[in-house]
Amino acid sequence: MTVENWEPENARSWTEYGRRQLHRGYVPPVADSIDWGFWGESPGTEALGEVSGKRVLDIGCGTGRYAAHLARARGAHVDAIDSSATQLRRALDQYGNTRGVSFVHGDAIEYARAGTPYDVVYSVHGLSYIDPDRSLPAIRDVLRTDGRLVFSVLHTNAEGVGPSASVRPRTEEVRLSGHAPLPVHMWVLAPILWEELLIRHGFDVEGIEILAAPDAGSPVRCQLVRGVRARA
Ligand SMILES: C[S@@+](CC[C@H](N)C(=O)[O-])C[C@H]1O[C@@H](n2cnc3c(N)ncnc32)[C@H](O)[C@@H]1O
Repeated sequence: MTVENWEPENARSWTEYGRRQLHRGYVPPVADSIDWGFWGESPGTEALGEVSGKRVLDIGCGTGRYAAHLARARGAHVDAIDSSATQLRRALDQYGNTRGVSFVHGDAIEYARAGTPYDVVYSVHGLSYIDPDRSLPAIRDVLRTDGRLVFSVLHTNAEGVGPSASVRPRTEEVRLSGHAPLPVHMWVLAPILWEELLIRHGFDVEGIEILAAPDAGSPVRCQLVRGVRARA
């Protein structure tokens, strides 16, 4: 499979996932903090720093709950983009009238390339699905100098398979009870690889934190990655 095929298949799977969620009528709870892992315990919204009055971009916003939270509770001006029309439909259905948020359907990286500068770019489990050599240069260019990039990505999956030691996507599954799993191609990379990629593409790395599930029986781990656009 060529690189060109990985991301389109991800888009197809997320479109089907959103369709299934719309069909079953599942609406996730309103967020009062950003959950960078999957468990409701993580450094929360504070990981972004001060966002009041700032221009913020949410990459892979899904249901839009974190974008709406940042606009409503933190006074941010958020552009929230998702390439899945059905995921975006879920966001519009619940938060389409929220002041301070603009929802956009499209590829986040094409959007960033054409965008006006942001103070903060963040993504909660969105950047795992995009080739980092495509995403990171575009994000750097759309950030103001000293602008922040904060994102969470998968580190160890539910089967206990840890991150890859080379910058290549691998096949994982998106699961929803009662349905066949959907194939996705994810960049599940060792922290040192994310660090090298960020530096190569013009970021200073503030830190990479491993987030573990509070349930000791779960092998799932995530990374919370924080960077700042480097000064030229
Ligand atoms: C795991 S979901 C996370 C959704 C949301 N951030 C959350 O935490 O609830 C990943 C999302 O990223 C979106 N996505 C993947 N690749 C994208 C791209 N190139 N541009 C925009 N969105 C993308 C998917 O459609 C999906 O909705």
